[in-house]
Amino acid sequence: MVSPGFNEKVKLNVADVFDQSCLIYQAFEEKHHFFASLALKLAESIDLQPDTMVLDVGCGNGISAQVLNKHFSCRVLGVDLSEKMVAAGKSLCDSADITLVVGDGEKLADVAGDQVFDYVLYNASIFIFPDVEQAIGEAAGCLRPGGKIAFSFYPSITGESGEDLLTEAFRRLGEPEPRFRVITNYDKACRALSLHCGTVTSYEWVRPLDIEFLQDFFSIPAQSASLFPGRDYETRRKLVHNLFAKLSDVADSASVVWRMAEGTKEV
Ligand SMILES: C[S@@+](CC[C@H](N)C(=O)[O-])C[C@H]1O[C@@H](n2cnc3c(N)ncnc32)[C@H](O)[C@@H]1O
Repeated sequence: MVSPGFNEKVKLNVADVFDQSCLIYQAFEEKHHFFASLALKLAESIDLQPDTMVLDVGCGNGISAQVLNKHFSCRVLGVDLSEKMVAAGKSLCDSADITLVVGDGEKLADVAGDQVFDYVLYNASIFIFPDVEQAIGEAAGCLRPGGKIAFSFYPSITGESGEDLLTEAFRRLGEPEPRFRVITNYDKACRALSLHCGTVTSYEWVRPLDIEFLQDFFSIPAQSASLFPGRDYETRRKLVHNLFAKLSDVADSASVVWRMAEGTKEV
């Protein structure tokens, strides 16, 4: 049993590392347009309907909120633990239909008040939540019956036979693999979703392995901390570069898989 004190400490660390990530996160997105594409994939996968109300949990600097507003005319309330990500998002989002606030996605009632949403979405954030049952329970609490909860997940890097190439990259680099790549794994997040929504439907977005993309993605301070915890940022950045360079000979036959899942609140 994990104590509440531990979870609160995890979230303070998450807020801190995303505060540190803000500028590099923005530079990464300007180069790759990745989080916007992932948000669009998630929305398309779940057949997100236009002109709806979305609660965007772990909204970061508002990239997902902007996609939902621009492509689907959604009204979006975004919530994030990181003050710096939210401040950056406020300066980047110019629509009156987007509101971004600092808050804890595991305490959504504090943020949402009596608002009722059509969707609660987590674009690349659910795996950072220490108490996913609590988080999804709160999400279900501010969702209308028939509304959907959906998330996109942390990447899997797989070879042509489905083998885990991140494990292989660590082996080739001669560095220990982190004990946990994510705080909450995919199966646990899906189980929490099914507690409130019954059947869970999963999707995959499969992309070719691009070494430079992975080096840039995992050079975001928060992502590099998931691979090389306890090291300073400059060391992590160099290790990330060398780690993915180890996969150059298998890149042509490898994939990066972004899993997604959705559930519908019973009517
Ligand atoms: C990888 S970013 C994704 C941001 C955004 N959804 C996007 O598509 O660009 C993950 C975000 O989740 C936020 N986060 C993690 N745990 C959270 C929590 N308990 N409550 C609110 N935000 C959280 C982090 O601060 C971070 O900004």
